[in-house]
Amino acid sequence: MQALTDRFGRVHDYLRISVTDRCNLRCLYCMPEEGVKFEPAENLLSYDQIAEVVRTGADLGITKLRITGGEPLVRPGLPGLIRELAAIPGIRDIAMTTNGVLLAEHAEELRAAGLNRVNISLDTLDPARFRFIARRGDLQRVLQGIEAAATAGFAPIKLNCVLLKGVNEDEIAAFLEMAFKQPLHVRFIEYMPIGHADENWRNHYLPLSRVLEIAEQNKLEVEPMKGLLGNGPSDDYRIKGGTGTFGLIHPISDQFCSRCNRLRLTADGNLQPCLYWVDELNVKPALGSPAALESIFMRAMNMKPKNHEMAAKLADESLSHEPTARRMSQIGG
Ligand code: GTP
Ligand code: 5AD
Ligand code: SF4
Repeated sequence: MQALTDRFGRVHDYLRISVTDRCNLRCLYCMPEEGVKFEPAENLLSYDQIAEVVRTGADLGITKLRITGGEPLVRPGLPGLIRELAAIPGIRDIAMTTNGVLLAEHAEELRAAGLNRVNISLDTLDPARFRFIARRGDLQRVLQGIEAAATAGFAPIKLNCVLLKGVNEDEIAAFLEMAFKQPLHVRFIEYMPIGHADENWRNHYLPLSRVLEIAEQNKLEVEPMKGLLGNGPSDDYRIKGGTGTFGLIHPISDQFCSRCNRLRLTADGNLQPCLYWVDELNVKPALGSPAALESIFMRAMNMKPKNHEMAAKLADESLSHEPTARRMSQIGG
């Protein structure tokens, strides 16, 4: 049996590593406009400490890593971490999720360091709306980042679009057209209630069945596909006659917890068994001892719940367990 198997028989081979809780944007589904109190630098795991945790994870069966934030590219020296992680025996895929703002400057160096794939957040194709959603930054730089990622040889390039009712719902057709015409993989994501005022989430949550309705209205023939490179929860589709593909990540309307394969390491050194569960384990006291780190991974396996309860929250039912107190920017998605 694989070492990292939980009580429900799910094998874990994917570790998401948040390297910072800071970000150069303030997306309305993630952070309040005024920002949040960030972790002081001395509370963050150093890159060497992250690599130490990953070495134990790799011994236990972790093969796939994803670097997240906040925005990972605001932490200096990231290519050095990628090089260190790529050299760990057993690690076969290293990816990053970024908002793309700083990607044009760093794409080549990251690729040379051993980063295999990038997922880039893109919630709108309209510059003014970008300012409304992200509250900072500018769309042009993100588009340049996407181009630079393609030039640097990253493939497939995935775009993450969080759908927000009444905000970017009217762009579903444009995003589908993008997936039809360009060699990109566009992923629509359901808005999750993580660390956020319920009002905001309830008002803007949109089930992803809407995407398939719009595809049909636009006479696009879509079919589910298998085999797109990825480790996450996306259900992927091709569009007949199209160049690119699209994916649906629907944690609320169609839960995918039964195929969960991942753990999360927060920037301040906590191993989090589930995105929407309060329990987590601090790895810092175990640093320096592979046996102690191993025991933390095993405890995380035992602690992992069967599923999250976001749908119950949407229905205003009581939850069996407290959700995480962290914001999305303190987890990394
Ligand atoms: P691939 O390896 O390319 O498939 O990446 P990924 O989809 O695992 O990573 P990414 O960071 O791009 O995440 C896309 C979206 O999926 C984000 O909104 C994440 O919050 C969400 N997501 C990833 N894993 C989970 C999970 O275990 N549970 C829930 N509810 N959402 C998740
Ligand atoms: N719901 C769904 N997705 C979210 N992301 C950030 N906050 C949320 C949320 N509340 C997405 C980002 C990024 C990925 C890491 O998670 O857009 O693409
Ligand atoms: Fe930053 Fe990502 Fe959160 Fe947007 S979703 S504020 S880009 S961490």
